[in-house]
Amino acid sequence: MRTPSRSRPLPTILLLILAGAASVIAEQDEQQPVTHPGCPDKCGNISIPFPFGLMPGCFREGFEVTCDHTFDPPRAFLADRDTNRITVTEHDESAVPDDSYRSYSYPNTSYCPIELMDVSVDRSQARVYGPITSGCSTNSTTYKLKDQVMMLGRLTSAGPFAVSEALNVVIGVGWRVGVTAGSSYTTSSTAVACRSELPAGRLEDARNGSCAGRGCCEAALRQENSYYGPVTNVAPGLRLEDSNALWKTNPCSYAMVVEKSGYNFSTLDLYGDKVLPGRFPKGVPVVLDFAIVGDAACPEKGRRPPPDYACVSNNSYCVNATVGQSGYALSYVCKCAEHYEGNPYIANGCQDIDECKFPDLYYCSTNGICKNRLGGYDCPCKPGMKGDGKLGHCAEKFPLVAKVIVGTTGCIFIIVVISLIFLLRKEKRKTREFYEKNGGPTLEKAKIIKLFKREELVPILKSSNRIGKGGFGEVYKGNIGNELVAVKKPIKGNLLEKEQFANEVIIQSQVIHKNIIRLIGCCLEVDTPLLVYEFLSNGSLDDILHGDGKKPLNLDIRLSIASESADGLAYMHSQTNTIILHGDVKPANILLDDKFVAKISDFGISRLIAREKQHTRYVIGDTSYMDPVYLQSGLLTEKSDVYSFGVVLLELISRKKTFDDNSLVNVFIEAHRRGERATELFDNEIAVAEDLELLQNLAGMAVECLNLDVDQRPAMTDIAHRLLIMNQSRNS
Ligand SMILES: *[C@@H]1O[C@H](CO)[C@@H](O)[C@H](O)[C@H]1NC(C)=O
Ligand SMILES: *[C@@H]1O[C@H](CO)[C@@H](O)[C@H](O)[C@H]1NC(C)=O
Ligand SMILES: *[C@@H]1O[C@H](CO)[C@@H](O)[C@H](O)[C@H]1NC(C)=O
Ligand SMILES: *[C@@H]1O[C@H](CO)[C@@H](O)[C@H](O)[C@H]1NC(C)=O
Ligand SMILES: *[C@@H]1O[C@H](CO)[C@@H](O)[C@H](O)[C@H]1NC(C)=O
Ligand SMILES: *[C@@H]1O[C@H](CO)[C@@H](O)[C@H](O)[C@H]1NC(C)=O
Ligand SMILES: *[C@@H]1O[C@H](CO)[C@@H](O)[C@H](O)[C@H]1NC(C)=O
Repeated sequence: MRTPSRSRPLPTILLLILAGAASVIAEQDEQQPVTHPGCPDKCGNISIPFPFGLMPGCFREGFEVTCDHTFDPPRAFLADRDTNRITVTEHDESAVPDDSYRSYSYPNTSYCPIELMDVSVDRSQARVYGPITSGCSTNSTTYKLKDQVMMLGRLTSAGPFAVSEALNVVIGVGWRVGVTAGSSYTTSSTAVACRSELPAGRLEDARNGSCAGRGCCEAALRQENSYYGPVTNVAPGLRLEDSNALWKTNPCSYAMVVEKSGYNFSTLDLYGDKVLPGRFPKGVPVVLDFAIVGDAACPEKGRRPPPDYACVSNNSYCVNATVGQSGYALSYVCKCAEHYEGNPYIANGCQDIDECKFPDLYYCSTNGICKNRLGGYDCPCKPGMKGDGKLGHCAEKFPLVAKVIVGTTGCIFIIVVISLIFLLRKEKRKTREFYEKNGGPTLEKAKIIKLFKREELVPILKSSNRIGKGGFGEVYKGNIGNELVAVKKPIKGNLLEKEQFANEVIIQSQVIHKNIIRLIGCCLEVDTPLLVYEFLSNGSLDDILHGDGKKPLNLDIRLSIASESADGLAYMHSQTNTIILHGDVKPANILLDDKFVAKISDFGISRLIAREKQHTRYVIGDTSYMDPVYLQSGLLTEKSDVYSFGVVLLELISRKKTFDDNSLVNVFIEAHRRGERATELFDNEIAVAEDLELLQNLAGMAVECLNLDVDQRPAMTDIAHRLLIMNQSRNS
């Protein structure tokens, strides 16, 4: 045999089917037990709930049921057959209108068990098949009488059952008959309960379904019909008062105790002798009350119940009963508490009712949400409603006024949000306008420098980051990404500064040289644009020579600073199409990186000058370094930068700062004119014997630059060249 592979996963559909099957099983399991564990709870299709039971240990005394499996389906009978039984006596009888006494000592008596139809523990009722007493004529004067009496319990010891007076009636059927319904012991003396007569045998007067005395009569079953006490012994009897003129066609009369609506009269029942019994082969339904008997009553409140107390389920309670009450003994029944159902006679038999499944029985407003709970249910109103859905309808929580207020508040909120969005857009538009005004699109296209967003730079612009403040603006130090940068922020923009900015950007974008500070980018999204430069850690030459950052500087470094600065300026002056004039050359505008590489900075007042075209504009540079010729004529040329560079050279070798009085320049010029060695003018740090000649050369070069005859000044390229050679010969 093949074993199916276990590793193969079950198809989803199969899983679903299995899950479905499991839920069906679970539902079946959920059906509440009706009797003790291990006890059969059914005979055929009849449920046998405790205290009824089929096996020893499965029933309470008096409630035994036997199941006869010889029938199909099996039939259930009340046990204790000498207590619960139907007594059948058959005998011939003649019509005896005046006779008021009858002997019942008939030899031909038989007994039948009482067959059980069904049991309802929550109503404390059972239904059984009850007998039909009949009297059928054999000729016009003689009847064959079949008396049938249902006996429940005995005269001296009441059983747990009694015929329900409320739910049963006495019925008589026949064209001319009186019906009694006393106990079997009193039949003869019992008054006629109802009488059926069809005058002159008018059978057509009988109506189907009507037991108003025409072919059928009906009477209530009353306690006084019984011997006394509960009706535990009922004998539906016939009083055959006349000869039977219709004995051939309508021989039989019937009497019975039957559940209300358990028998519907049919005119056909008046004919023949087999029609009515043929419709009820087992008998007619009779409702019995049952109770726990044996001198038992509900325990008084607070009293401990007796050991054989029957109401064992949680959520059950006890009710004093009437079965056996007026006669012999006390009795009680058990009920499940309100909102519980099931069998109060077994442990945990009473189970909570899910009221929400029965909306017809348990009211919950359509606006409510039904929620089951143990011992009841709740019906809270849906959100936004108030009230109790169980007591009535849920009402809207917010009246119209409240809704209007909420609505208005909502509207105002929305307007505020829209306004905010509008403002933000306006702000954005403004940013865009600045960007365009500042030449953003052109720069963007040129792709020379990076265009920063406003948000990228704003965090850097705080006072703790400020590293410098000059005539043209403030400088902040910060990080963008991993790069250390210096951000230059013009002091709040006058027109001049804006022009200077543009100047700087344009110039910077044209000069890319190792000795000119590199402009990384700018931010145009602000009124006055911000410039982002590479950060040079050693600050300015002015700082190092004279300022807070004063450091020892050997001649090699000074020479290379001079050479590199000259290189940068020469580069500017030698641009092919345009000459760039710095216009403000001074130690403060020569920056030094960590290796003391010099870089020219600050092109704020620099000029782009078309070749062969001279430039006269306002004077704004530092006058201490300014070419006096330019100061006089207002004519800026590249030789103006050469003059300023001459001053820078003097500061480099003397470490003395120049001032507006030109004293430093004058001292050197005077010394040079006299052909003196200006040894005492040199900075002591570098004025060593072997370097004096070099220093003298440098001083000579500076004086050349300071020549008041502009044409006699060397070109920047020339100076750069000479410095380069000096530098190289020294290092080789
Ligand atoms: C039992 O079965 C019979 C017929 O099979 C049916 O008439 C009767 O109503 C059933 N009783 C119950 C309690 O289901
Ligand atoms: C007793 O009843 C049986 C059948 O029910 C019948 O055959 C018999 O004749 C009856 N005996 C008497 C004395 O009536
Ligand atoms: C009726 O039948 C009984 C016996 O069954 C008999 O004694 C009686 O005489 C009959 N009566 C008539 C009127 O035939
Ligand atoms: C009563 O009902 C039966 C069928 O159940 C029918 O045959 C009969 O004729 C009806 N009788 C009357 C008087 O309508
Ligand atoms: C008798 O008739 C009533 C209504 O007319 C019906 O509810 C009931 O079921 C009938 N009873 C029988 C045993 O047919
Ligand atoms: C039931 O009857 C007994 C005896 O008469 C009495 O003591 C008890 O209080 C009654 N219990 C109830 C719940 O009526
Ligand atoms: C029912 O009663 C038993 C004791 O008989 C108790 O253990 C159990 O907790 C009760 N259950 C509920 C739901 O009250």
